[in-house]
Parts: sequence; C-alpha cells; structure tokens
Amino acid sequence: MRAAILFFLFSASAPGAFAVTPFLNEPDTGFNDGAVPTGQLPTLNSIKAIPDFEAVARHFMNVSDYAYYRTGAAGEFAYRRSLEIFSQVKLRPRTLIDVTNISLNTTIFGHKFTAPFFIAPAARAGLTHPRAELNLAEAAGAENILYAPSLSATKKIEEIAAVAVPGQVMFHQLYVSRNKTKLASDVKRIEAAGFKGIFVTVDNPVHGVRTRESRYGWPSTTDSDPEFTWESYQALRNMTSLPVIPKGIQSVEDALLAIKHGAPGIYLSNHGARQLDTSQSPLEVAIEIHENAPEVFSETFVFADGGVRYGTDILKLLALGVKAVGLGRPFMYSNVFGREGVQYLIDLLKEELTVDASNLGVADLKQLDTKWLNLGRLLAFVYRLDTA
Ligand SMILES: Cc1cc2nc3c(=O)[nH]c(=O)nc-3n(C[C@H](O)[C@H](O)[C@H](O)COP(=O)(O)O)c2cc1C
Repeated sequence: MRAAILFFLFSASAPGAFAVTPFLNEPDTGFNDGAVPTGQLPTLNSIKAIPDFEAVARHFMNVSDYAYYRTGAAGEFAYRRSLEIFSQVKLRPRTLIDVTNISLNTTIFGHKFTAPFFIAPAARAGLTHPRAELNLAEAAGAENILYAPSLSATKKIEEIAAVAVPGQVMFHQLYVSRNKTKLASDVKRIEAAGFKGIFVTVDNPVHGVRTRESRYGWPSTTDSDPEFTWESYQALRNMTSLPVIPKGIQSVEDALLAIKHGAPGIYLSNHGARQLDTSQSPLEVAIEIHENAPEVFSETFVFADGGVRYGTDILKLLALGVKAVGLGRPFMYSNVFGREGVQYLIDLLKEELTVDASNLGVADLKQLDTKWLNLGRLLAFVYRLDTA
C-alpha cells in the first residue's frame, strides 16, 4: 500500500511538482533567433527586448568567447536566481496619477546623468568588437549615462579616457594587485586619465569556480590580493582623492562595516554570480539591508547590479533604496553591433523604464519606496541580523 502511494506521488502528481523551469537568460520574447545564420547579425531594429541581445551574441560569437561572457560560478544556481528573483517581487501600481512628465535624470556623486542605470565593469570587451570598450565609452558619452571600464579591459585606461566627450564622467573599476607598485600605478593612471570614481572589487579574493569558461581554458584576468582587508581599504583610500567604492558587498554586516570605514558609497553585487555559487542575489541583499539597517540607503550611496534585464527590475531596486543600477552581460552582448548596438540598448532601456514607471503610477522616480512593492514570500527568507 505504502509503495503504491509513493508510486502515485512520484508518477501521477510529480510532473507538475518537478517540472523543469527554463533558464531565464533567454526568455521567449518572440525573437526568432533561428532566422539568423550562425556568425551573422540581424538588423538592429529586430531587437525588441534586452534579452534578445544574448540570443544574437550566442549565434554571432564563437563558443569559447560566448562561454566566457555567459559563465556563472559552478552550477550557475546563483546566476539563475539573480535573473528569476525579480519576478518574485510584485509591483503595486497606483492609478489616476499624472505621469506625463517622468524624468530619468539622476545625480551620482554630484554628477548629472540621464538615467539611473549604468554600464558595469566587464573584462575583455574585445571579444565582440575590435573597438572593444571604446564603443561602450562613446555610447555612454552620447547618452550621458555612467560607464565604468574594467581594469581587465581590452583597451588601455588612457585609450578609453581619450574617447570621452567633453564633460563626460566615467568611473573605473580596480582590482587590488598583490604587487604594491602595480597597485599604486593603476590608481595613479586612473586618476590621471580623468576618471571620477573607483569601484574597488572586493568579492574576488580568488577567481571563482567557473566551470563553463574553464572548458575553454580561459585564464583569470584577475590579479587580486587575498590579503586585502578593511585596513588595506583605508590605505587605498589614502592613495587617491577619488571616491573609492567597494564593489561586491553581499551582506548587511559588510554594508555597515563599509560605512564604519568611511566608504562614500557601496556597490551590491555578486560579480554577475561568477564568483561564489548560491551566493545571494543583489536584490536579496538589498532586501536584507532594507529589513535590518534601512539607514544604510540614506547614509551612503548604494549601487547594485546582477540579473537586471527589464525596466521593472530597475524600479524594484530603486524602490528598495538603491540609487544606480548596473548591467554587465547585456552591454557586452550589445557590443556585437558596435557602438550603435550599445546605444540602441541604452535607448531601449530608457524607453522601457519610462513606460514601466508610467504604468506603475510613479510621476517622479524619487518617490519610489517599498510601498510600491509587495516583497511577498521573499521576506520569509531574509537573514535577520542579531543585534542583541
Ligand atoms: C564578461 C564579464 C566580465 C566581468 N569582468 C569584471 C571585472 O573585470 N571586474 C568586476 O568587478 N566585475 C566584472 N564583472 C561583473 C560585472 O561588473 C557585474 O557585476 C555583473 O556582470 C552584473 O551581472 P549581470 O551580468 O547579470 O548584469 C564581469 C562580468 C562579466 C559578464
């Protein structure tokens, strides 16, 4: 009898319960990726949503280069979650509100930009286009959004700075080299080239377990010092007059420690889920901070990235108190079309964000707070900081 019940459970009712959920890096947007032969590009205006860029890049790039961009750590559970988790936060639209004058304008560290989203630092832009990071910098300049090149960029720090339009503000990412002379030189070059802020990556004391990229023998681009601590962070801040923002904060404890150590901003990120599998998605970290220490969002400037693919993703992070939201892979994929593709993505996202804010009933993005969200079941999973 018991065996019969077990058989029933695992045969009759199980298909629904154990149905395989698709990996949402390429959701079905109606884009016919099969229409374009491998190695060729479709027309840019056939792209209607940000995930479409990934389908194009997968066809266009060779498997090894695509694997490098696409990879998450290990079983890619954290990467999958960073994409899926946004759909678990529900929006609470308000109605009968005049939304004719929505502005996306944003100020980041006193610099004015036209949108609250930015191009996150990502290595090796040369895998999609010979002009590599120059396209990203130029598109960001033309659209006046923030771009922060990676220290592991294909192009040199000075080459990227040289294509900035007058008045364009860029930040730069930094890996803390074990070689102190190199570290000092990197900081000096970033400052001398005119970058206005530094994202120092703190989520990679060592390179992650990146199964997908390791099949193709990709060496780590990272020269990181595993001995880097909060004390060395303070020493680093003393090396430059630029704001030095820790990138890769993944817990409320570290957010509070960053403030304690005088960080002028923090950057919630798990490195695109490329470092530690099953690490919390940055959206979850934002919720954790909101539940345990909401003052963090007013005491310091909070950046965040990870799995952002839609206008609604950005609205959710802004509602939690994040001030600027980054995208990594989508911009790297858009560069298969060169600068035009990057700019097309920026326009698409600005448009989507404006439409979504209108339908949410937010006349001014600064009004966003958690009253616009239903965090639902996610609240049950929030880590509660024991302050006793
Ligand atoms: C191909 C690639 C290279 C990256 N290189 C760096 C890097 O050099 N330094 C860094 O701090 N983060 C790096 N990142 C992480 C991004 O800055 C960002 O945190 C992540 O891509 C955001 O997740 P998303 O790709 O889902 O938008 C890289 C990400 C990708 C996809």
